[in-house]
Amino acid sequence: MSNKTSNQMWGGRFAAGPDAIMEAINASIGFDKRLAAQDIAGSRAHAAMLAAQGIITDSDAEAIREGLLTILSEIEAGTFEYSTALEDIHMNVEARLKDLIGEAAGRLHTARSRNDQVATDFKLWVRDQFDAAIAGLQALQSALLAQAEAGADMVMPGFTHLQTAQPVTWGHHMLAYVEMFARDASRMRDARARMNECPLGAAALAGTSFPIDRQATAAALGFDRPAANSLDAVSDRDFALEFLSASAIAAMHLSRFAEELVIWSSAQFRFVTLSDRFSTGSSIMPQKKNPDAAELIRAKVGRITGSLVGLLTVMKGLPLAYSKDMQEDKEQVFDAADSLMLALAAMTGMVGDMVPNKEALERAASSGFSTATDLADWLVRSLNMPFREAHHVTGALVKMAEDQGCDLPDLTLAQMQSVAKGINSDVYGVLGVYNSTKSRSSYGGTAPSQVRAQIARWKEALA
Ligand code: ARG
Repeated sequence: MSNKTSNQMWGGRFAAGPDAIMEAINASIGFDKRLAAQDIAGSRAHAAMLAAQGIITDSDAEAIREGLLTILSEIEAGTFEYSTALEDIHMNVEARLKDLIGEAAGRLHTARSRNDQVATDFKLWVRDQFDAAIAGLQALQSALLAQAEAGADMVMPGFTHLQTAQPVTWGHHMLAYVEMFARDASRMRDARARMNECPLGAAALAGTSFPIDRQATAAALGFDRPAANSLDAVSDRDFALEFLSASAIAAMHLSRFAEELVIWSSAQFRFVTLSDRFSTGSSIMPQKKNPDAAELIRAKVGRITGSLVGLLTVMKGLPLAYSKDMQEDKEQVFDAADSLMLALAAMTGMVGDMVPNKEALERAASSGFSTATDLADWLVRSLNMPFREAHHVTGALVKMAEDQGCDLPDLTLAQMQSVAKGINSDVYGVLGVYNSTKSRSSYGGTAPSQVRAQIARWKEALA
């Protein structure tokens, strides 16, 4: 007989209910209510399979199905009453089912445990997040492609060490991020394919003596196949870790781009104007327009990476099979998923709105002796100079220009010839930034011709 104050699911073995602190540390309903729809989908598939296998009657299965649909609509309508005493989403749903349909509710848990149930629910949830993240990454890529196309031959300084290195094109810079976000989406696709095995039917850890049909439940829930080892099925959280690691890498990419936008939108750079829609003002300094969205995107990588490290640490050292430690998996993943989706949406909005400042970009591209490498290459090509000597000669010319406070194209031919007498006036053709970018037409290079070819490739791939 179950004691009045003890748990209605396992009260038979208990004389008293839990201490209030026990209830507080034990309950997960505060957060795992986010798995409600997945829990109900899993239970529907399980009940239908139990009936098909003759383990429960068709009329019980029908009552369970209708009861679960009622519960789903209550949850969607916000009228479902969650109870902390009932610990988690699984027991909340089952207890409500009992209110609604009576006895038959007690048959749903045949050949099942909360261990395979939660693993299934969580996998279904994470699988949706992979799909949402891939869609979010593609939307961002499309926004970047539009920027790349509009500025395929716009010049800007390319940096190494954040020092002016060589002129590049705006389109080329945008496409660098298209590549990064493509790898992120590809990582998510790989992980999604790997995780798509159904834990349901693994039961507590060892499988079940009932004649269940795991192929049927796996197929009903959109899994490719049932997970092959019941111990592994209930204790595997690799899918969550892979989601977190792929998300952390994507967030790192977002953070790098966000940092560039912060720099580029500053008064010192003025490379881009961010829209009012993604900026904020200052409560004291009237002139300020702050790139808050970019800064927050830059920061999100911290909590997402934190979630990854958090869950790796939870899982480390856990013996097979299920341990309650694993209940600590969800909040990490929920928070990381929310953060990633928000960061992707904000970045997509900012990229769509931002306006590159062509004049400032060109001015910056032309300063800092950015075409010095072009000059050295010209000396190699036209005067047959060894590259090392050309590097030395160019260095001397840069020094001369620096001393005179001018740029390389401002040096007279006589001045150039005083350093290397073979130099002729053709050299001026390679000192301009447009010719410089145009000349770098090697595969994957910054030349507008290459950029346009890559844009065409990406447009087809994303279509
Ligand atoms: N709320 C639990 C979790 O999220 C469900 C599984 C409980 N299993 C158990 N054997 N106590 O992990």
